[in-house]
Amino acid sequence: MKAIAAVDQNWAIGNNGQLLAHIPADMKQFRTTTKDGIVILGRKTLSTFPHGAPLRNRINIIFSRDPSFRCEGADIVHDIESLLDLLAGKYASVPKDNIFVIGGASIYRQLLPLCSEAVITRIEKSFEADAFFPDLDKDEQWEKTEEGKTQYFEGIRFHFDRYRKNDDPCALRD
Ligand SMILES: NC(=O)c1ccc[n+]([C@@H]2O[C@H](COP(=O)([O-])OP(=O)(O)OC[C@H]3O[C@@H](n4cnc5c(N)ncnc54)[C@H](OP(=O)(O)O)[C@@H]3O)[C@@H](O)[C@H]2O)c1
Repeated sequence: MKAIAAVDQNWAIGNNGQLLAHIPADMKQFRTTTKDGIVILGRKTLSTFPHGAPLRNRINIIFSRDPSFRCEGADIVHDIESLLDLLAGKYASVPKDNIFVIGGASIYRQLLPLCSEAVITRIEKSFEADAFFPDLDKDEQWEKTEEGKTQYFEGIRFHFDRYRKNDDPCALRD
């Protein structure tokens, strides 16, 4: 299982329920990377999508504690155990490499222990923010394995990086 996120210099990911920046190359990389896989997200992140609808061409699994919450075209889970049951049962045939935790902050925080990789778009700017991804540079369990070449969009510098967790028996692997 992998986490995928766009973070700023301070590992910030959002403000007032919204993303910090809309960088077309980042959106494209997100679509390409997660296409045909499973995306796991929180109910608040779902509400930021157009019409609050799940993402097309992907299996969407949405976390909510509200037992009455429904979303057409998506699976709802109410706790991590139910997520693991779903992945081991209904979606057992999906390779672990194709399962992505896509946010927001609370879901990254809770599911990062189950991830073995993180696909990070690093935006070299500091935004006002109220939602954060855990700082992997300060976590000795994680190491950066790749730093992409610097790219620019409307004066914003960014690159595509990858992190890998050092051997961890809790991580879901193939
Ligand atoms: N930069 C990026 O890559 C990126 C990606 C995604 C999101 N974001 C940003 O992240 C921010 C949203 O993050 P957030 O932390 O506020 O919200 P979130 O993680 O998207 O969703 C939180 C909701 O998920 C449900 N939930 C969380 N833990 C649960 C659990 N253990 N069991 C059952 N349900 C659970 C609850 O839903 P109920 O309230 O329904 O119970 C909770 O209110 C926004 O600013 C968004 O734009 C950024």
